[in-house]
Amino acid sequence: MLKERKIVLGVTGGIAVYKAAELVRELVRRGSKVRVVMTESACKFVTPLTFETLSGNPVYTDLFWTPGSFEIGHISLGEFAELILIAPATANIIGKAAAGLADDLLTTVLLATHAPVLLCPAMNTKMYTNPVVQENIAKLVSRGQTVMQPGYGELACRAEGQGRLARLVDIVEEVESILTTKDLLGEHILITAGPTQEPFDPVRFISNYSSGKMGYALALMARRRGAVVTLVSGPTALPVPWGCEFVPVQTAVEMRDAVMTRLEKVTAVIKAAAVADYRPAVREPGKIKKKDGAMTIDLERNPDIISEIALQKGNRILVGFSMESERLVEHARLKLMEKGMDFIVANDVTEPGAGFRGDTNRVRILHREGEEETLPLMNKIDVAGIILDRVKKLRESRRGRDGS
Ligand code: C5P
Repeated sequence: MLKERKIVLGVTGGIAVYKAAELVRELVRRGSKVRVVMTESACKFVTPLTFETLSGNPVYTDLFWTPGSFEIGHISLGEFAELILIAPATANIIGKAAAGLADDLLTTVLLATHAPVLLCPAMNTKMYTNPVVQENIAKLVSRGQTVMQPGYGELACRAEGQGRLARLVDIVEEVESILTTKDLLGEHILITAGPTQEPFDPVRFISNYSSGKMGYALALMARRRGAVVTLVSGPTALPVPWGCEFVPVQTAVEMRDAVMTRLEKVTAVIKAAAVADYRPAVREPGKIKKKDGAMTIDLERNPDIISEIALQKGNRILVGFSMESERLVEHARLKLMEKGMDFIVANDVTEPGAGFRGDTNRVRILHREGEEETLPLMNKIDVAGIILDRVKKLRESRRGRDGS
């Protein structure tokens, strides 16, 4: 979604400057056009050459630089920017921005733009928690700028505390979010993702190959588009998506409880989780010892979460998934109707590029009213975008119908 988006990255002088180099790489990898402005002290940590090479553009350091005969540097950069990202942001730039100073190129660009501004502080904990820094941050936030919380951990000065530059994945996610149209405002979407694990002793469980990628892609995209997101997730190896209410669970019963206690406050539910249909009837308190001969584990049915939701559906939009290995449409349509969904996203596990573990999916969307869509092989992020488009369309048609 960052393809061709124009970002001015302001780099100020803290040890986290080296992380900003990686940040440029990721932004460029996602297709954005990055122009880097460095302050004088940032240049003491890393030379502009690093950022020039990574961004593929000249790096700007001088207030009195003129890019063309009629252009003025800070004005043209301010106009170029769709977003100004400052990472790392020192206490100094935060103070100067809050006070409206313009004594170098970066501060001047900040005054000469209408673009949104995202600051990512990184500094020693005592500096970060200093009331004057906090006041300055509050001032920037009250003016509509976004200031990311720094992370906790070991700092360059060897102290432990809050002050580390936020995780790069989260910074990039915030950039994506700021540059995305907020067309799902007012929705609170509960998404389930990943597999469930059904233990039969303290060290073993029954599960499936679900990676959680589809559900996590939905959570990211829904948040970017302005929805409040609750992600109820079985165990996965994926990073917790930025800005979501995250509820980790292990078993289907835990997932059911987590979903049902939150149902009241949500406006839509997307059940992307691969819930185990059965669980071991007995969970042994100690590790089961091996013996000669075969072993049998009795299984009992898990609750069907989506059917329970359907009973209390109200005006909520309910979306399910179905993974089949034969008679895809027939089986999916049956589930759609029986489980009270508004639409179902169906895929055939036997098709290349579809299913659990990959980054792509090939799906059909079957609607309750009978309509059927076949989508080509796509990235899970793009599939998520289309599913959310359908949620939005359904909401709009209900609003039209209800006259609200
Ligand atoms: O019947 P099947 O498991 O294929 O149905 C898939 C849909 O039902 C998915 O949306 C899945 O999250 C949901 N489901 C559920 N509870 C279960 C099993 C599946 O909510 N116990």
